[in-house]
Amino acid sequence: MQRVLWCFSAAFLLVGVNGLPPCDSEIYCNGNILSAVQTSRLFDDDKYFVDMKLKAPPDVVLLAYRNFSKEMFYGRVPPTKLQEFVNLYFDKPGTEFEPWTPPDWHDKPKFLGRIADQNLRLWAEEIHNLWKSLGRKISTDVNDHPELYSQIYIPYPFVVPGGRFREIYYWDSYWIINGLLLSEMTDTAYGMIQNLLGLVNRYGFVPNGGRIYYERRSQPPFLTLMVDSYYQATKDKNFLRKALPVLEQEYNFWMQNRSVAVSEHILNRYHVEISMPRPESYTDDLELTEELSNDEKNQLLMELKAGAESGWDFSSRWYIDGDGNNIGTLSETRTSQFLPSDLNALMCLNEKTLASFHMILDDFESAARFNLAVDRRLAAIESVLWDAERGAWFDYNLMTHSKHFEFYPSNLAPVWAECYSKPAMGEKAVQYLKASGALQFPNGVPTSLRQSGQQWDYPNAWPPLQHMLISGLSKIQSAEAQELAFDLAQRWIRTNWLAYVKYEAMFEKYDVNGDGKPGGGGEYEVQLGFGWTNGVALQLLDQYGSSLTSGSHQVSSSLLLFLVLVALLMLQCSQHYDRV
Ligand SMILES: *[C@@H]1O[C@H](CO)[C@@H](O)[C@H](O)[C@H]1NC(C)=O
Ligand SMILES: *[C@@H]1O[C@H](CO)[C@@H](O)[C@H](O)[C@H]1NC(C)=O
Repeated sequence: MQRVLWCFSAAFLLVGVNGLPPCDSEIYCNGNILSAVQTSRLFDDDKYFVDMKLKAPPDVVLLAYRNFSKEMFYGRVPPTKLQEFVNLYFDKPGTEFEPWTPPDWHDKPKFLGRIADQNLRLWAEEIHNLWKSLGRKISTDVNDHPELYSQIYIPYPFVVPGGRFREIYYWDSYWIINGLLLSEMTDTAYGMIQNLLGLVNRYGFVPNGGRIYYERRSQPPFLTLMVDSYYQATKDKNFLRKALPVLEQEYNFWMQNRSVAVSEHILNRYHVEISMPRPESYTDDLELTEELSNDEKNQLLMELKAGAESGWDFSSRWYIDGDGNNIGTLSETRTSQFLPSDLNALMCLNEKTLASFHMILDDFESAARFNLAVDRRLAAIESVLWDAERGAWFDYNLMTHSKHFEFYPSNLAPVWAECYSKPAMGEKAVQYLKASGALQFPNGVPTSLRQSGQQWDYPNAWPPLQHMLISGLSKIQSAEAQELAFDLAQRWIRTNWLAYVKYEAMFEKYDVNGDGKPGGGGEYEVQLGFGWTNGVALQLLDQYGSSLTSGSHQVSSSLLLFLVLVALLMLQCSQHYDRV
């Protein structure tokens, strides 16, 4: 296998691949060292190597490697020697941080007092405690010597998701910031937003995460909503005034670089024109594309990066087979050929929020400009994505010019964004959800109803999707929608709580059938920490704190039964021994 991988990676370098690499670094994003280390599988996770710090400047390391590989091994370095080389020139990941505890953390934020169930309240306190272990501050050496790191220097400390995700992530930060604001950690939330605004100033958009190998793709654009959350908590107009031009710059990026016209409408998509393997998942990309022609290879590598940009990496949602159908395998990922219903709902909400910011700052002309964009967006979503017969909004396939009717929670994203023209559409969407078959699972709403082995599919349930669904339902007036919202919140909190009791950990995703079982599948092991899970749990505990329960009555009664049985058994045994 290693040999095969090596040959294909050599082919990559020889033939050359069109377009730009994921970043310009000849160590972290392309070149012989990256290819040799990843294809020799020195580390379990490809992300490990590209997160390491250089002990010498890149040109020194490149020269040393050229000499080392050519003179000694004629281009093919055995893994043990390669490992020695890596030990000599690289430090392990994580050395770029200095110790930091959020100074605005304090132990009794008010929302805790509003949680009625005592178990849940104590647990919420522990989740609130986790911010301290997930906080990071990048050392100034990264600013002074950026060439030695893949970590992008950002000046303010921040909260990471956790596990292998050792840097700031774009859409994760939305739920993290909402959690921080409940925890009354306004300064930390402020710093995270400043970091992301700074990234827009530097790159023209927010990269997927805080590493140079992410710098040519984004993630679902939640920055405007982060600023809104912060503004709602602080009413700081000065902050809003400074942030607004940067938010507009990001909005323009999405409209110029991530949009497509369908008849008279303009809608958004994920699209990344970078065709080399992802440095952090190098061997996965290489293996998946090894049998393909050059053109097919370039296309698939771009589509995989667009999948990463969507946040749903990976999912059968993005599959299109040769006949244009929404089936296939990972190698049939065609993310850029979709107009996703959740991305367009989010863009609509961004347009509404930007209009409201301009109103707050008394700029009525600019507000009118964004209100016009909202009107256009509503018309586009209704014409292209809404399906009156089924009562939901579906992703649009640009190859076949038709909608895809599989179930995903994202089919209700316009409910969450409140981007539809008639209240009846929201009610129809509730009926769609009830009839979808997605509500039959005890531990959350699955990401799809297909078990593809990918992590954004059945049986995994993800915190941001639960939150958007619950929050959307809770905005619909009918008692039915309200009850459903609460019921889903109760299921999700119980799932998170049961897993916490079992593992003393919060996970990035859960299994809808596990009663506290973490999710699985995809390219890496399930991660703990976990930023957005904590943020979503705290938000639900805040929203429904007066009525949510831990369901611990069942737990304690079964525990009681167990203890009674043990006691009986011991009694039996002791009688037995007495007789002996
Ligand atoms: C190149 O490799 C040779 C043989 O191992 C060694 O003696 C020499 O110092 C190396 N030169 C550089 C620039 O690393
Ligand atoms: C967006 O597209 C424009 C025009 O095609 C291009 O010049 C610009 O570099 C792109 N921006 C980014 C940030 O990729």
